[in-house]
Amino acid sequence: MSWSDHTELSSYAEKLIRARRATRAFRPEPVPKETMHTMFSLAGAAPSNSNAQPWRVEVVSGASRDRLAASLQEAHAARRVSVDFPYSDDLYSPVQQERRVAFGGQLYGTLGIGFDDHAARAAYDAKSLGFYGAPHVAFLFVAEQDNARLAADVGAYMQTLLLAMTAYGVASCPQGLLSFYADEVRAELGVTTGKLLVGISFGYADDAAPVNHIITERATLRETTTFHG
Ligand SMILES: Cc1cc2nc3c(=O)[nH]c(=O)nc-3n(C[C@H](O)[C@H](O)[C@H](O)COP(=O)(O)O)c2cc1C
Repeated sequence: MSWSDHTELSSYAEKLIRARRATRAFRPEPVPKETMHTMFSLAGAAPSNSNAQPWRVEVVSGASRDRLAASLQEAHAARRVSVDFPYSDDLYSPVQQERRVAFGGQLYGTLGIGFDDHAARAAYDAKSLGFYGAPHVAFLFVAEQDNARLAADVGAYMQTLLLAMTAYGVASCPQGLLSFYADEVRAELGVTTGKLLVGISFGYADDAAPVNHIITERATLRETTTFHG
């Protein structure tokens, strides 16, 4: 495809970008190996500062996936958290916090969980550490340093990967929560370098699950973007 095909390309892009959604219920059947290799190769086309490509990707399936889910759930029950990138709810501004609350209302409303029902929310978190039933999970590490610039490159890789998956009919959920158990992930996978940014559960969506039909809102263009000149 060349630049002159941009009309066709833009209509594909619109469909592809809007078709990607966070999926929180999966069917158990695995994604074929060949499709996996194609999607992860495509993701590697992501841009990065000076083309440094500071991502390290660990893709986990089968028995290792099952062991890891058990280990994450055990760490969650023991409240044993290990983060490579510091986190605090305070990092969000009031307007961002409002958006989070609106999203939480949609998610927990669909699940029949009261927003202030902390026990039920914790139980749902524990369930989500089983990768929402997905047969695969990819962990994105920022190679070596945890500088914000390198993390931004890994963010670009993440979105490229999510879109590549969408193009192959593979559903996904990026899960920041998985990065709260970095030591368990490292121990299971034998990883000794890099900082864990995020995990992405993926597989085929269970279309019958109401949670997969949530449509999240976005801020208006005017709220986020200024055109100068
Ligand atoms: C870096 C990152 C971390 C996320 N962490 C979680 C998570 O821990 N659990 C979860 O269910 N969804 C998580 N999400 C999914 C977001 O909730 C979702 O992308 C957002 O609500 C917008 O919805 P959409 O992806 O369906 O457009 C995460 C998304 C990103 C990009």
